[in-house]
Amino acid sequence: MRLVLLGAPGSGKGTQAARLKEHLQVPHVSTGDLLRAEVKAGSPLGLQAQEVMARGELVSDAILLGMLEDRLSRDDMARGFILDGYPRNLAQAAALDALLERIGQPIDAAVQLEVDNELLIERLAGRAQAEGRADDNPESVRKRLQVYDEQTAPVIGHYGAAGKLGVVDGVGTLDEVFGRILAAIDRS
Ligand code: AP5
Repeated sequence: MRLVLLGAPGSGKGTQAARLKEHLQVPHVSTGDLLRAEVKAGSPLGLQAQEVMARGELVSDAILLGMLEDRLSRDDMARGFILDGYPRNLAQAAALDALLERIGQPIDAAVQLEVDNELLIERLAGRAQAEGRADDNPESVRKRLQVYDEQTAPVIGHYGAAGKLGVVDGVGTLDEVFGRILAAIDRS
């Protein structure tokens, strides 16, 4: 199963991907987590990405594609993967299609988690208090939601046009949302 999880910041991609990983027995690849690991390690890439992420903007497509190529080339990806946080714009979607076509492993399904902005802001404010993520402050959250609307939302149409999109209500208990995602995957 090669699955793309789409949804605005705070929609529950990371939370549900962790459950899907256990259920589907495939790796969870979060580009946000990969970038945060680089920042934590203080690598040149991390130093480059740190400020951009804190502002809530997108890190360059070239950096992301390099990171993704590296991750997808590892042995544990042979049975599939759950992509969380990529693609983030139409250029990344095209790059991913080309990369997967080259290795003969196209995306099977894309699932979009729908949650309204008011609740997203509430969830991220809660996480800011609990975990202190650098980009969960009100200003960066506003920017992340704007970037999502302007750059990431068009990616939904990309998978819709390919007949691979399932749209799921992301509001409810974790079990309820998980059940809806599995049903959407089955339908695809
Ligand atoms: P990234 O880490 O991908 O962040 P994001 O998309 O903003 O998503 P979040 O992690 O905030 O939310 P989520 O949807 O995973 O929700 P979660 O499960 O955590 O990216 C961070 C930054 O990295 C970007 O801004 C950018 O700078 C850079 N970046 C990453 N990928 C990139 C790319 N491809 N190109 C360029 N730049 C890139 O849940 C959120 C909260 O809600 C949690 O507290 C959770 O417990 C709670 N919650 C979840 N589900 C529920 C529920 N059903 N009910 C109640 N609470 C819930």
